Amino acid sequence: MKAVLVEKPGDENVLKIGEVAEPAIKPDEILIRVRAAGVNRADIMQRQGFYPPPPGASEIIGMECAGEVIAVGVAVAPGWKIGDRAMALIPGGGYAEKAAVHYGSAMKIPAALSFEEAAGIPEVFLTVFLNFFMLAGIKRGETGLIHGGGSGIGTASIPLLKAAGVRVIVTAGSDQKCEQCRKLGADVAINYKSGPFAAAVKATTDGRGVDVILDSIGGAYLAGNIESLAQGGRLVLIGLMNGTRAELDLAAVLRRHLKIFGSTLRMRPAAEKAQIVAAFLEQFGAALEAGRLRPQIYKVVSAADAPTAHRIMQASEHFGKIILKFD
Ligand SMILES: NC(=O)c1ccc[n+]([C@@H]2O[C@H](COP(=O)([O-])OP(=O)(O)OC[C@H]3O[C@@H](n4cnc5c(N)ncnc54)[C@H](OP(=O)(O)O)[C@@H]3O)[C@@H](O)[C@H]2O)c1
Repeated sequence: MKAVLVEKPGDENVLKIGEVAEPAIKPDEILIRVRAAGVNRADIMQRQGFYPPPPGASEIIGMECAGEVIAVGVAVAPGWKIGDRAMALIPGGGYAEKAAVHYGSAMKIPAALSFEEAAGIPEVFLTVFLNFFMLAGIKRGETGLIHGGGSGIGTASIPLLKAAGVRVIVTAGSDQKCEQCRKLGADVAINYKSGPFAAAVKATTDGRGVDVILDSIGGAYLAGNIESLAQGGRLVLIGLMNGTRAELDLAAVLRRHLKIFGSTLRMRPAAEKAQIVAAFLEQFGAALEAGRLRPQIYKVVSAADAPTAHRIMQASEHFGKIILKFD
């Protein structure tokens, strides 16, 4: 089969289409004929040689895909059959014509969604659901803050939180992205290049702060995040785009009863991912099925043009998901 391969770690030009053996499915896996695969920030780190897949996972880049089921393992739960349209989370192997997927990490594609749209759902929607809802326990009437409102993660957070009755504040790096976030449903969008975000968050919450922050920036944002949290606030760290070290004001954590979580989705065992998928579908499956929840797609490019997809992401030109298409 054809796949997007990394000749050797490096810039986006090392991504080349090549031939590899088809994956063999295990008894609890389905085989998907991949029509589209989502591009994620972590793919860039993997291409550069900094983020290897978990042990046992495919070395091929790609953490999510969508397509048709072409084989079903003998231990797969009833309900999956050849011909089903499936979208799935995978620890690796999405940038390829075929991908073997644990059945618990797969979801049926709602009729309202194309393969390209479906490929933009698993990684970001499940990450947002896991961290805002399962870990931080965000509730109706609370306020959530997301850094990188125009990212895949940000553009999934906005509709999911709004659907759950949460007030949404985002930060983004340009006035244009802020405007796009507001159009998508964000109540407040802060251009972080115009001044410290924590002051703007305080101003828009009457000095109270927010209940939950989803942070993928890390080091340089820790002080501002702590300053932005309300009494009982929760900070969930999911990425480290701007540093791994920072000083923490423990007095603020103590006095305001704050909680800090760290979380990765990719490294979790298949059984945990199955629980996350099941809980996500229970809460949001009907809205997805009805087409009320959709991913924000920025661009669909041919798999052979993977270097262009990575170049766009590295430059942060995009608003929403970038998708690779396999013809
Ligand atoms: N832990 C997990 O399970 C998990 C799962 C999925 C994703 N993630 C993490 O979530 C983050 C977003 O992923 P994604 O695929 O949605 O990424 P993405 O679409 O590439 O978006 C990232 C956005 O962050 C902003 N950004 C980049 N560098 C920044 C910096 N130094 N300071 C402030 N903003 C910056 C840029 O937007 P602006 O133009 O607004 O600056 C960029 O568009 C990544 O860190 C990724 O590793 C973690």
